[in-house]
Amino acid sequence: MHLWVNQHRRDQRLPRVTKGQGCEVFDETGKRYLDGSGGPALFSLGYSHPEVNEAISEQMARIQFGYSTTFTSDAIDALAEMIAEEAGPDLKYTSFVSGGSEAVETALKVALQYHAARGDGGRTHFIARRQSWHGYTMGALSVSGHLARRRPYENVLMPVTFISPANEYRPPAGVEVEDLTDYLASELEEAILDIGPGRVAAFIFEPVVGAAGGAVPPPPGYAQRVREICDRYGVLMIADEVMCGIGRCGSWRALALEDGCSPDIMTIAKGLGGGFMPIGACVYREEIYDAITNLYGTVASVHTYSGHTLACAAGLAVLKIIRRDKLVEKCRSDGLYLKNALHQRFDQNAHVGNIRGRGLFLALEIVQDRENKRPFSPDRKIADRVRAAALEEGLICYPSSGSVDGINGDHVLLSPPYIVSRAEMDEMVEQLERALRKLDLH
Ligand SMILES: Cc1ncc(COP(=O)(O)O)c(C=O)c1O
Repeated sequence: MHLWVNQHRRDQRLPRVTKGQGCEVFDETGKRYLDGSGGPALFSLGYSHPEVNEAISEQMARIQFGYSTTFTSDAIDALAEMIAEEAGPDLKYTSFVSGGSEAVETALKVALQYHAARGDGGRTHFIARRQSWHGYTMGALSVSGHLARRRPYENVLMPVTFISPANEYRPPAGVEVEDLTDYLASELEEAILDIGPGRVAAFIFEPVVGAAGGAVPPPPGYAQRVREICDRYGVLMIADEVMCGIGRCGSWRALALEDGCSPDIMTIAKGLGGGFMPIGACVYREEIYDAITNLYGTVASVHTYSGHTLACAAGLAVLKIIRRDKLVEKCRSDGLYLKNALHQRFDQNAHVGNIRGRGLFLALEIVQDRENKRPFSPDRKIADRVRAAALEEGLICYPSSGSVDGINGDHVLLSPPYIVSRAEMDEMVEQLERALRKLDLH
């Protein structure tokens, strides 16, 4: 069938894409798809944005890549400056990479190097959360709590301590929603004490969980409590904003929505390159940069393509447009519009258990029984079937499974490009309703 191998199954025939414009994509038969999830929450400015295309062409006409060990360039300097401005006063230094997993790998290594530089090299252990996703490279996979994706590699991953996800719809057994923040904070503190405070390098989490949970925001006060506990024990706080960041949730940093809370290290990727070029970044505090470079000279983590000039030119154009067109604010207001439309359409649906998320980062959790939140059996492959039915209707969405415990549970992520119109959002909701109706769930 296809000789190239990524995520598709052996027998699966993918539609052949030919062009895209705005939120629309077309295949070779001329069929139109509306991109309700921006691919995997990637296409922040949709497809073929003329200004981003132009910025890439202009850069290409001059030089494709000033190799970053040898040269700096206007594009990389301006992009680093812009990220520092948008990320707020605490996060100043950026290591550029080519995607989300590399950004997470860099974050883990920056944390380890920071502790080693301060003579605290015994801090090598990471704490992460179940039902989380940080990427498919071995370090990122080690801190990912997505059981199904870990399974083939489980025996060789780094030892990591996993604690509960911060999910108000599915709190741990016996925990009331009002007590969830306290419970989760105690769990993190106990994990640090159990491992031994002098052994913990960092706690990594997604401020709003993406693919593994389905746009799950934390309970009130969660991030502040995490911040206090990390500070108390000298544990670094790593916010993985690869999916939820760059404005999608309605503030440039998703974590800033938690009373302006700042991490020590932040990862960004998807919306930064917007699918125009592969780019990611690990952004961190000055004291981390200083501690590492004062002792070692450089941060020991770089790849050949890190800081690729075309990718930086694309990222810079994307960020400039997001700022100029006030798209972070648009994500906030349009997110309310889309969420409201989802409530109107699906609140009475017997199989939609929960509608959640922030800004243009929303999800429906699909359940067999709304009363007791019972998920469908994984054999029913609900997420796969929703994806196929939606595609037939001409809707690209991002269904996934494992939201309950890593294996059970299905959700559908809606994370359209920031430039989506209200008419397009209405159409997406209709397409999704038709797709779910067609599945005839029971
Ligand atoms: C939160 C989060 N971190 C990291 C990654 C890995 O990013 P990439 O697929 O670009 O390597 C993802 C990808 O979905 C993600 O959602």
